[in-house]
Amino acid sequence: MIKAAIMGYGTIGSGVMEVLEINQNSIAKRVGEGIEVKYVLDLRDFPGEPIQEKIVHDYKAIVEDEEVKIVVETMGGVEPAYTFVKAMLEAGKHVTTSNKALVAAKGAELIALAKEKNVNFMFEASVGGGIPIIRPLNSCLTADEIEEITGIVNGTTNYMMTKMTEEGSEFDDVLKDAQAKGYAEKDPTADIEGYDACRKIAILTSLVCGQQVDFEDIHTEGITKITATDIKYAKAMGRAIKLLASSKKTDGGYVAMVAPYLLPKTHPLYSVNDVFNAIFVHGNVLGDAMFYGSGAGKLPTASAVVADIVEMAKHIDMNIPVEWSSKKLELVDYKKSVNKFFVRVSSEDKAAVEKVFGNVSYVAAEGVTGELGFVTETMTEAEFESKAAELGNVVQTIRVA
Ligand code: HSE
Repeated sequence: MIKAAIMGYGTIGSGVMEVLEINQNSIAKRVGEGIEVKYVLDLRDFPGEPIQEKIVHDYKAIVEDEEVKIVVETMGGVEPAYTFVKAMLEAGKHVTTSNKALVAAKGAELIALAKEKNVNFMFEASVGGGIPIIRPLNSCLTADEIEEITGIVNGTTNYMMTKMTEEGSEFDDVLKDAQAKGYAEKDPTADIEGYDACRKIAILTSLVCGQQVDFEDIHTEGITKITATDIKYAKAMGRAIKLLASSKKTDGGYVAMVAPYLLPKTHPLYSVNDVFNAIFVHGNVLGDAMFYGSGAGKLPTASAVVADIVEMAKHIDMNIPVEWSSKKLELVDYKKSVNKFFVRVSSEDKAAVEKVFGNVSYVAAEGVTGELGFVTETMTEAEFESKAAELGNVVQTIRVA
């Protein structure tokens, strides 16, 4: 039996326990021996529940037990997760985490520490929930220069955008519905402002480039300004609005961004609806690939964590190298990237629009009056910003993919 511990018995931590139980036999067959959870670290007690006998409140009980070889971190947040994970690696234990905040902030350091201690720090569940994307990037797509990664990597906001599109509802109503269904948290800021997606694309870009991408450097816009009127325009254009997290290789380097985009029906991410996630990857020799599936939730996320446990158990005396150095990657300023922009202005003065933007395509949305909607030609973000300021009465801007 390989002994393991779980730090944090919330949704994902208890899901890990459940997956290890449900698939006990097949997991043991794949590893060559069983996995037994010896400890569960949590602040709470669970009186009367079988898990209670495994509960410890001090992470040092796990650090000091040499029998424990693999530790799962499902606590969330940077601290105290970072302190605990670091102590586990320093004690020569393998660690897997579902915690994107921890990976985005401390990934390079924890990968280096794991290498030094000849163990592994794995984080498949930190991006795309149950969808395999970290291991594919780290081991299957290593023949390629990855030129683009664009993903719908946040299930909550994708559910909300799908609902707004299907029902024509306003943002606030859809948010309440998402909260009632347990998709959006009580404080939904991290999801709806794009911060969650930002950390995920920072992790993916770091893996693709092999260097540290600081999430603070990634221009991030959420979905909070999207309205039912925008959805009407999207429908008139035969497009869907989706929150995309993307990273593209340009002549000067990588440019990364999180923002809502208007996607045409032909776009590979157009049909990714509800809480599903998908990650589109373009490699210079591979061409296109898509990873699609359950991007969040208890069992899908736990499935990815347990897959890491299996991988670590199979390499119990060996570090599997991950290329992600702490050397900071300077991203290209997003203002240099080019897009077409859908714009709404609060007047019907076409002459003023054309004087500033030149050639535009107007869009008429059903029941919308007293304003103009139009799509610009392709231009840089910087050019657009300056033209929009010159025009002065812009009420909405959404990039057009
Ligand atoms: N809040 C995240 C989402 C959970 O909605 O996708 C998974 O990271």
